[in-house]
Amino acid sequence: MSNPQSPVISVAKVGKSYSRSGQKVSVLADLNFEALSAQTIAITGPSGSGKSTLLGLLAGLDQPDQGTITMDGIDITHMSQADLALFRAKTVGIVFQQFHLLQTLTALENVSLPLEIAGNKSAEAAALSRLEAVGLGSRSSHLPSQLSGGESQRVAIARALVVRPKILLADEPSGNLDTKTGERVTDLLFDLVRKEGTTLILVTHNEELAKRCDHRYQLRDGQLHRVP
Ligand SMILES: Nc1ncnc2c1ncn2[C@@H]1O[C@H](COP(=O)(O)OP(=O)(O)OP(=O)(O)O)[C@@H](O)[C@H]1O
Ligand SMILES: [Mg+2]
Repeated sequence: MSNPQSPVISVAKVGKSYSRSGQKVSVLADLNFEALSAQTIAITGPSGSGKSTLLGLLAGLDQPDQGTITMDGIDITHMSQADLALFRAKTVGIVFQQFHLLQTLTALENVSLPLEIAGNKSAEAAALSRLEAVGLGSRSSHLPSQLSGGESQRVAIARALVVRPKILLADEPSGNLDTKTGERVTDLLFDLVRKEGTTLILVTHNEELAKRCDHRYQLRDGQLHRVP
C-alpha cells in the first residue's frame, strides 16, 4: 500500500525549452515540486510563464528535456506512448479553459467515452450518474453546441472525473465563463475533489480562486515559488 504521506506528484529538476525561429527559449528550468494526496494546489503566474507547459508535462502530453516526473509512484518521463495513454486514461483527469468537448457526441457520450476506452461494461450508467452529480442529468442527450458555457464546463468536469482519477489538472477552468457562472463551476469542482480526495492542480489568474487552495505557488523565471 502506498504511504499517504508519500507525494502523489513529484517533479525533480525538470527543464523544458522550445525552439522559436532557430532560438532555444527556456520555459522551465530546474523546477522542483511535490504534492501530497488530496491536496489542492493553485499555480498562478504571468502569461507565458509556462503554466500550461507544466500541466502538459504532468499530463504526459509532452516530455521534459531534463528531470523526472513521478505521478502516483510511476516515473512518466520514461514511458512508452502506449503506457502513457493508459496512465492518462486511469490516473489523471484534465479540464481545459476551452472545454474541449467532442462536438459530434452528446453530453452523455462525451462523459462515457473515457470509461468505454477503459473497457467499462456499465459505462453509460456510470456516466449518467456523473452527469447527475454535476446537475446535468436532464441534458444528457444535448450536443455541446446546445449547451451554455457553464454547462459545457460541467460536462468537461464530469468527463475528467468519471474514471475517479487520483489527480485532476485544471487549466483556467473558469477563464471562459462570466464571474457568476465561473464561481458556480469552481464551487462544484472543489466539492467533487474534496469529496473524493482527488489531488487538484489548478492553474488560474484569479487570486480569490487561488486562495481557496491548500497551497499556492507562483511560476516565475521557470520555477515554482511558494506563496505564503
Ligand atoms: N509548442 C510550442 N512551441 C514553441 N513555443 C511554445 C510552445 N508552447 C508554448 N510555447 C511558449 O512557451 C512559453 C510558455 O507558454 P505557456 O502556454 O506554458 O504559458 P502560460 O503560463 O500557460 O500562459 P497563459 O497564462 O497565457 O496561458 C510561451 O512563451 C510560449 O510562447
Ligand atoms: Mg496557459
